[in-house]
Amino acid sequence: MESSADQLTGASSATPPKLEIQSHGSPVSLFPTVCFIVEHQGTEPMNDELVRFCLEQEKNQPGLQTGSIRGYHSNRQFFDNDNWAVQKLKELMMGNARNYLQEFWKSESMTPLSNVKDLALQLSAWSVMLREGDFSKPHIHPISHISGVYYVITKESDQQSQSDEGNLVLVDPRIRASVAPLKDQKSNAMFSPKAGMVVMFPSWLDHFVLPFKGEGLRISIACNFVLSPSAIQDD
Ligand SMILES: [Fe+2]
Repeated sequence: MESSADQLTGASSATPPKLEIQSHGSPVSLFPTVCFIVEHQGTEPMNDELVRFCLEQEKNQPGLQTGSIRGYHSNRQFFDNDNWAVQKLKELMMGNARNYLQEFWKSESMTPLSNVKDLALQLSAWSVMLREGDFSKPHIHPISHISGVYYVITKESDQQSQSDEGNLVLVDPRIRASVAPLKDQKSNAMFSPKAGMVVMFPSWLDHFVLPFKGEGLRISIACNFVLSPSAIQDD
């Protein structure tokens, strides 16, 4: 018989039933940021011509003032130039963008890519030339969906390979993940550029370049790809 106190609190002195609770946990990766790395081999003749072309362009055309780069930034019509190396790189970057798009789309959209009609990529590109002390501040690429960078030349001495100078840093977009960081928390991702290498990432992802030190020249070609209107949500 329950006491008057038990009646007041609703507590029961009955023996609890034997429970057989089964539990299955599984990791769920939410909001991943899919990027894409490509290493092109056999690009030396193309890179040699790109270096020559970029140096000539720098001499003849004033650079753009973007506010985010200390160094030379060409106009955004780089791929409109009638030069065999420029056109070959354009072809390579279009192929990279199509491959990356398959993975990017899967992580960003619930609609199968095959359901998107008349999918097209509109491309713009520019050269970035950095010398001693030059860098790029954290920035995104507005009015674009996916972006990429191709490295034409980097300073490839042993000294550089052991330092971070001129490295590309992709910034962890989960800004609140840093309020209580774990030991060795995986945060900013750093890439040490090599000639022939491509890094592709969503255009909304913050990124920057650490200051380039010492003698020499670092040339990269950056690209933006805008998806056709049929691939964009219109409401
Ligand atoms: Fe950039």
